[in-house]
Amino acid sequence: MDIRPWEAWLRRLAQKAGKEHLLEAPPIEVAEDATRDVERDREERYAAFVAGLPELYRGMTFGTLTDITGGFTAPESIARMWADTYPDVPAGLFLYSKERGTGKTHIAIAIGHILASRGFSVGVIDVVALLSRIRNGFEDKHPSVDVERIPSGRDVLILDDLGAEKQSAWVSEQLYLLINTAISHRVDLIVTSNSTFKELGERMDDRVVSRIIGCTDLVLFNGVPDFRLEQHKRRRAV
Ligand SMILES: Nc1ncnc2c1ncn2[C@@H]1O[C@H](COP(=O)(O)OP(=O)(O)OP(=O)(O)O)[C@@H](O)[C@H]1O
Ligand SMILES: [Mg+2]
Repeated sequence: MDIRPWEAWLRRLAQKAGKEHLLEAPPIEVAEDATRDVERDREERYAAFVAGLPELYRGMTFGTLTDITGGFTAPESIARMWADTYPDVPAGLFLYSKERGTGKTHIAIAIGHILASRGFSVGVIDVVALLSRIRNGFEDKHPSVDVERIPSGRDVLILDDLGAEKQSAWVSEQLYLLINTAISHRVDLIVTSNSTFKELGERMDDRVVSRIIGCTDLVLFNGVPDFRLEQHKRRRAV
């Protein structure tokens, strides 16, 4: 066998130290185990993400967006690109349309599927449902949700339907705690809403809106149809 000079030198050195066996040792398996652990972590995270979704949201992937519009909608393209380049993104996303049923939630969850399948930790919060859960706990004098703890350990937090909740000083405070904590933990936010920043500003604490503006890029769902209506028309046409 052709041994190069540095290999011979290494061998002599190992012999001297009585460690020659190390040179013959098979490649260490740790690397492979580590890869397997990373892979298992990734699969577990994805399973946890899907398990935590309401039934209706589980199938909300980019693959299940049907082609009613005759091609990709602009928000869909932006969202796909954002998901593919994450975490190298400049900011989170604020998915806005005045009209209902334009696919904001579907697209936010589709991004969640991609990121969770890549091993990122993604949380989904239905804002109205969350506030009602906390409120119920509150009335029993046993708050059931610690809003400040929700974002911890997350990479991305999807806040679905912000602005649809009934407003009060208490609601404002809860939202401030939630959003401020997320931002201070550098969690990336994806917000869906039917309210403009201005409308949100009129309804909730300025501090909340200012933070959201600072950490998200606006994606307008302009000219996108109400897909619920489209689904309804299709069913009637059958
Ligand atoms: N591009 C699309 N093609 C076909 N169906 C779609 C598309 N986008 C969304 N949908 C479907 O249309 C319905 C409404 O979408 P979604 O709930 O995401 O709307 P939304 O904008 O979040 O509505 P809201 O403002 O009421 O919260 C869902 O069943 C969703 O799966
Ligand atoms: Mg929605």
